[in-house]
Amino acid sequence: MTAIEQYARRLLKDFHPIIAANRAPVDVVSRDGQAPLFSRGAGGLVTGLSSLAQATGAVWVAAARGEAETQLRLDDEGEPMILETSDGGRFQVSWVSAPRLVYDMYYNTISNPLLWFVQHFLWNLAQAPILDETTHRAWTDGYRRVNQLFAQHVVREARRGHQRPLVLSHDYQLYLIPRLVRRELPDAVLQHFVHIPWPTPQYWKVLPQYMRDEIMDGLLAADVIGLQTSSDVRNFLLTCEENMRLPVDFRQQTTFYRGRTVWVRSYPISIDVNAFQRAAATPAVERVEREVLRWRPEHLILRVDRMDLSKNIVRGFYAFDRLLQAHPELRGRVSMWALLQKTRQDVREYREYAREVQQAVRGINERHATGEWLPIRMEQRDDITRAMAGYRQFDVLLVNPIYDGMNLVAKEGMVVNRRGGVLVLSENAGTHEELGEWALTINPFDVDATAEALHQALLMDPVERLSRAERMRTVVEQNDIARWISAQLQDIRDLVEPSAARQPEPVR
Ligand code: G6P
Repeated sequence: MTAIEQYARRLLKDFHPIIAANRAPVDVVSRDGQAPLFSRGAGGLVTGLSSLAQATGAVWVAAARGEAETQLRLDDEGEPMILETSDGGRFQVSWVSAPRLVYDMYYNTISNPLLWFVQHFLWNLAQAPILDETTHRAWTDGYRRVNQLFAQHVVREARRGHQRPLVLSHDYQLYLIPRLVRRELPDAVLQHFVHIPWPTPQYWKVLPQYMRDEIMDGLLAADVIGLQTSSDVRNFLLTCEENMRLPVDFRQQTTFYRGRTVWVRSYPISIDVNAFQRAAATPAVERVEREVLRWRPEHLILRVDRMDLSKNIVRGFYAFDRLLQAHPELRGRVSMWALLQKTRQDVREYREYAREVQQAVRGINERHATGEWLPIRMEQRDDITRAMAGYRQFDVLLVNPIYDGMNLVAKEGMVVNRRGGVLVLSENAGTHEELGEWALTINPFDVDATAEALHQALLMDPVERLSRAERMRTVVEQNDIARWISAQLQDIRDLVEPSAARQPEPVR
């Protein structure tokens, strides 16, 4: 058992911990007539929560998103299933299965196109969104309904245990859970963590009042609300004050609602640095690296992203185009390797965005490519081995989201890179609060400034590159996933359970 596991288990010995998150720790791939395959699920949430689940031994309540998962759900007879991944992960999962149309309204009408867009400021408000009957129905029959199903599972799981339930619910898909669970389990300890940015109170007003009030009423039934950065905490407290007219203490970071104090805290999510570094040093990664060494020119710029509108991929390519135009001497000497993963393809905006990304790459390659040199090498697949090889090989890592809750690519890249690589980082990524001082900061909308930062990064003196890279690696090593977990558990102990004194000291 690792130090954080020992710490978490001792601290939680009187609790029955349950995680609720839309995505499971594993993706299930069914194979005709054979046992299903399990692989790690996508996105930053799964990366962070997997460690939390392992450390606490919590049951993970997740949506059965596809056929294979629904089949597993039918097989599980109401007990959580033990799932083991090929990389040694072991999880207890309880599947929530919603009718297809209900899930579709919850995921493809409310969660992703609406809440995700609001929280990443993605709307061009002169044109969108247009909220209508479909939206209202999707809220009632989709979002509310799936949250209720999740809450039922959580409550059932809580009642299977004999200790006090500790429910750790996650993200924008499940905002209503704390209230629904509190109604059934008034003494449970509830924490809800929001992985994505929390916008200003004004911007929340894109949503009809009943929706935004229901979100706040749902969340404020928790004891602790966790967010990624201090600016998210401020925006959350401002939203309590302005949109809900609640008393707020900005110094204590608390608000008071329905007779209870609610604590609002930032816990910047991170990665399991040791595990990640080990996984990046395997023969499979080295094989890809050797392949990369055959085609990479003198300089390699890397980006690794889900093909999400918030990731600002197209402007990143435009910036690279500007770089090649402004500095013709770099043609043939620098390539951008874009490892992109298609995501949320049932949502029209995402399909259109994937097409825009492809068009941008085609246009730039047609303009600049020569017989031996491909300016942008884009790969569209989910392949962590290739990402790790990229992380080891980059000279510049471009992380330029419009807005991003945290962005773990920046952290992953900086802890495994072996070339003193430079991070070009959007000021609107949550990671900027930790790494901004040593990265080259960009305004993600300004493609000329981004091109200039790329140029500066490529030309940076090796001593400076190394010292910046070193500082960033140290920061991530210190603030790794163990700290994310222990900070939350410590707060649960100190804020919610002040009487539970003399518990074990936190890790680090
Ligand atoms: C981000 C969100 C998660 C989400 C993940 C992948 O990390 O914060 O809640 O699970 O992206 O998105 P998906 O829609 O594929 O689950």
